[in-house]
Amino acid sequence: MKIGVFIPIGNNGWLISENAPQYKPTFELNKTIVQRAEHYQFDFALSMIKLRGFGGKTEFWDHNLESFTLMAGLAAVTEKIKLYATAATLVMPPAIIARMAATIDSISQGRFGVNLVTGWQKPEYSQMGLWPGDDYFSQRYAYLTEYVSVLRDLWGSGCSHHQGQYFHMDDCRVSPQPMAKMDVICAGQSDAGLAFSAAHADYNFCFGKGINTPCAFKGTVERMNDAANKTGRDVPSFVLFMIIADETEAAARAKWEHYKAGADEAALSWLTEQTQQDKRADTTTNVRQMADPTSAVNINMGTLIGSYAQIAAMLDEIATVPGTGGVLLTFDDFVRGIEQFGQFIQPLMLTRQHIYPEETTDKEVA
Ligand SMILES: Cc1cc2nc3c(=O)[nH]c(=O)nc-3n(C[C@H](O)[C@H](O)[C@H](O)COP(=O)(O)O)c2cc1C
Repeated sequence: MKIGVFIPIGNNGWLISENAPQYKPTFELNKTIVQRAEHYQFDFALSMIKLRGFGGKTEFWDHNLESFTLMAGLAAVTEKIKLYATAATLVMPPAIIARMAATIDSISQGRFGVNLVTGWQKPEYSQMGLWPGDDYFSQRYAYLTEYVSVLRDLWGSGCSHHQGQYFHMDDCRVSPQPMAKMDVICAGQSDAGLAFSAAHADYNFCFGKGINTPCAFKGTVERMNDAANKTGRDVPSFVLFMIIADETEAAARAKWEHYKAGADEAALSWLTEQTQQDKRADTTTNVRQMADPTSAVNINMGTLIGSYAQIAAMLDEIATVPGTGGVLLTFDDFVRGIEQFGQFIQPLMLTRQHIYPEETTDKEVA
């Protein structure tokens, strides 16, 4: 099973709570996290794009770095880990994203890929006068389909003549081409989003669900697998979880209760309001589920709480769901969490034993 880290490009990571660690996003913080993740042989790091925060006392996500520029910096200070940036496709023309991606491919020596998002939170774009109107909600993946077609042209032949509803390319050129195949990921959950991934993405990302219910996301992956069967492509799913670990289950649970007790209600109200904006959203989208009262404090991302051994066992269980390629992890406290994962959780995971071949050989030789 592959392991990735969803790095805290926005303040306070993914806990909307006055009782959670309070910090601003910086290059130094993210460098530490990604370098330590690389040390522990994480397979990849992903940063999101978020252009407007939720406010409240914690100013949740009011402070956000930009995804491509952050990953360009991280590409220069890492050597092995794969890096993904998220493209704000609504406001960045595909020819610019294609060139930025080719640049980071060059900095990273072929370790870069792109997460394509349509955007779902209107104020991120209306604040700059770039929201195309509420009809966009229902056209998001038609727009993204043209977008990815232009990207593939430019990364492939270096030239696009695409003529569509949204993009009109006139012998558009981008060179140099990436040295490695440019992986495209998407995190669609709606039927349209999954159909997009089935046709165009290399991997699809989805939310884990519930507290200590590691396989509750199974239905989403089954829907992804069904969609991929229709296109005849293999599109593994990667599942998003927050890890809250400690030496004992009681200590980990106490942290979770503390975070919930400090929930930033004003920021959560903003989230709830935003998730209701798409009036025609089909029920399969996860955007509405983010604000569900069950676990809005961490946007209901699926949470694994427990001792190191309990977390390791739950992570191994996730890998049993057919079609699952790996997990994307967040932590309540990222710097400590990566160390706990690397030192105490990962060594217990059966699905990660392949990263320790040299140690085994050393022992055998000794
Ligand atoms: C792991 C993950 C990362 C995501 N990153 C972003 C992001 O950076 N920016 C964004 O606007 N939406 C992001 N999303 C939202 C998705 O792109 C998508 O819009 C959402 O999951 C709802 O699915 P749908 O678009 O099919 O309705 C992310 C979702 C997941 C699960």
